[in-house]
Amino acid sequence: MEKKTFYISTPIYYPSSNLHIGHTYCTVAADAMARFKRLQGYDVMFLTGTDEHGQKLQRIAEQNNMKPIEYIDKIVDGVKKLWATMEISYDDFIRTTEERHVKRVQKLFMQMYEKGDIYKSSYEGLYCTPCESFWTETQLVDGKCPDCGRPVETMKEEAYFFKLSKYQDRLLDLFENNPEFLEPESRRNEMINFVKQGLEDLCISRSTFDWGIPVPIDEKHVIYVWLDALSNYITALGYPDEPEKYNKYWPADIHLVGKEIVRFHTIIWPAMLMSADLPLPKKVFGHGWILLEGGKMSKSRGNIVDPVVLIEKYGVDALKYFLLREYSFGNDGVFTNEVLLNRLNSDLANDLGNLVSRTVSMIEKYDGGIIPEHNVPGDFDEDLIAVATGAAAKVEAYMNKMNYSAALDEIWAIVRRTNKYIDETTPWILAKNEEDKGRLDTVMYNLAEAIRIISVLILPFMHHTSKEIWRQLGIAEGEGTGWEDTFKFGLTKVGAKVEKGAPLFPRIDIEKELAALMNMEGTGNAPKQEEKKEEKKEEKKEAEPKAEITIDDFDKVELKTGKILECKKHPKADKLLVSQVKVGEEVRQIVSGVASYYTPEDMVGKTVVVVSNLKPVKLRGEMSQGMILFADDADGSLKFVTTDAADGCLVK
Ligand code: MSP
Repeated sequence: MEKKTFYISTPIYYPSSNLHIGHTYCTVAADAMARFKRLQGYDVMFLTGTDEHGQKLQRIAEQNNMKPIEYIDKIVDGVKKLWATMEISYDDFIRTTEERHVKRVQKLFMQMYEKGDIYKSSYEGLYCTPCESFWTETQLVDGKCPDCGRPVETMKEEAYFFKLSKYQDRLLDLFENNPEFLEPESRRNEMINFVKQGLEDLCISRSTFDWGIPVPIDEKHVIYVWLDALSNYITALGYPDEPEKYNKYWPADIHLVGKEIVRFHTIIWPAMLMSADLPLPKKVFGHGWILLEGGKMSKSRGNIVDPVVLIEKYGVDALKYFLLREYSFGNDGVFTNEVLLNRLNSDLANDLGNLVSRTVSMIEKYDGGIIPEHNVPGDFDEDLIAVATGAAAKVEAYMNKMNYSAALDEIWAIVRRTNKYIDETTPWILAKNEEDKGRLDTVMYNLAEAIRIISVLILPFMHHTSKEIWRQLGIAEGEGTGWEDTFKFGLTKVGAKVEKGAPLFPRIDIEKELAALMNMEGTGNAPKQEEKKEEKKEEKKEAEPKAEITIDDFDKVELKTGKILECKKHPKADKLLVSQVKVGEEVRQIVSGVASYYTPEDMVGKTVVVVSNLKPVKLRGEMSQGMILFADDADGSLKFVTTDAADGCLVK
């Protein structure tokens, strides 16, 4: 009989910088689910990847003096290494710059176009010139660009649109009649309200930058990054040209996504699929965020929790367990080192670690390290057996609701019950009387057997620990280690040899450890936001001194004098001026963001200082070959840096 399939995906991550623990959270959850379903016998497809197009990435690469793909390759390498360290069991990793993805997105675009769902029009929006980004009214912060805080202006450009509005009723119907499509419930209500307010057609192409997949019918445009990104869920399966995997796994069972991208996955993505006449994913689950006490994690603020730092200190299994046990998956949670350490100590070192080490030590001591017979039932056995064999069904029910924390708690109910069983049966007293040996052996056997069940149930979450337990208890993989074996009591082999090992999870001295973490990067201990702001103010007063450089550093910059011959306003951006500057023999075009300070007439005739070896860039479609220097005056104005020298002289 063919195995039942199960397809789960994570979002594809932006390779703008290294991933932090927030990104890791979703991937760890997807990994645990994939492993759980594999344990249950499903044929699993687990997809993750990277979302590599768009203006932001292009700009970041430029800032790093790299080609986009060079920069991205480097980050993607790091992402793959992180997943290898965390032993993420994905079946495929899709990069949106891969040929297989690009050609398939273009085909999907054409399918939607041929359906009559894509048309050309013009896009008018609020535009931030320095960031080269359009924003909606609601995205603005105090009426200004949410990224840089500068004023925005109204701009118009030609673009392609997707008839999203056409699918409004079908989407509403989807939310209202398929409650399982979007979970948790609260997010469903949000989306229903959003759709009810009315959907506008979606602008799906950009022509102001070129780091993207070209629109197949108009190469001046690139496809809007979300259309490109969302398609990954089917392009990775080979849709439409190699549909074997697509036919096998689509529709997806679960798209796991963070709460802020639920809207893209439950409105735009289904509408795209409706347009292409394809089935919809069965479920989108919008999980909460991991926050720090000061709010969101942010690379620029330096308050990042780096999973690698935690793994090096506590191990992969501990981190995975913590993430899925501590936080309720649908809600936000706050990460602190104290919460982490307390959880590791109480659940892993004390509860599970102690149970295993006590049991193995007792079997060594009382039975020479050999799993004994179990012929003398007694008090407490029945309850222990009921708890141990009754957990799997509950774990399964919780996992199907994506309630990882409750599933783990259910497994820990066995751990706690088994520890209690030791206290109740008092093996050390039984060991004193030869006539109690039969009962003592049965207690030892029952302990080993309860631990076997625990070890299989934790396999999807912490497989190293499972395997170490098997090693210590003399269990061979495949013998009592399957999903069905967690419902049965009595599978541990009499006569197997146990072998003590190092503690599964060493106990942590919390005070000492917290003090050590305080001074470590990547543990979320950067100064809180307010303190940072204060520091910034201080820096400002002192004219923001930069780090010392050597003469060799300075030597890299080539400064020359240049005479501004002509100047005009940038045709597409109110803040920019485009000057023709004579630098010795050559005339260069230089774009400057100074239109709020000077008119083109003010510029013409000045001999200024120019950075002449700056890499040329296109700014809103106009080439800029250098930079004119200005002085930031104390009164907030901008002053020319002029000179008496002729143009073309080296400034040194
Ligand atoms: N590239 C898009 C997704 C496209 S999917 C077709 C994107 N990338 S992202 O890198 O910005 O974010 C990826 C995921 O990481 C999102 O689901 C987001 O919610 C998640 N997280 C980022 N920071 C997070 C936390 N601090 N906590 C939990 N998850 C968070 O969006």
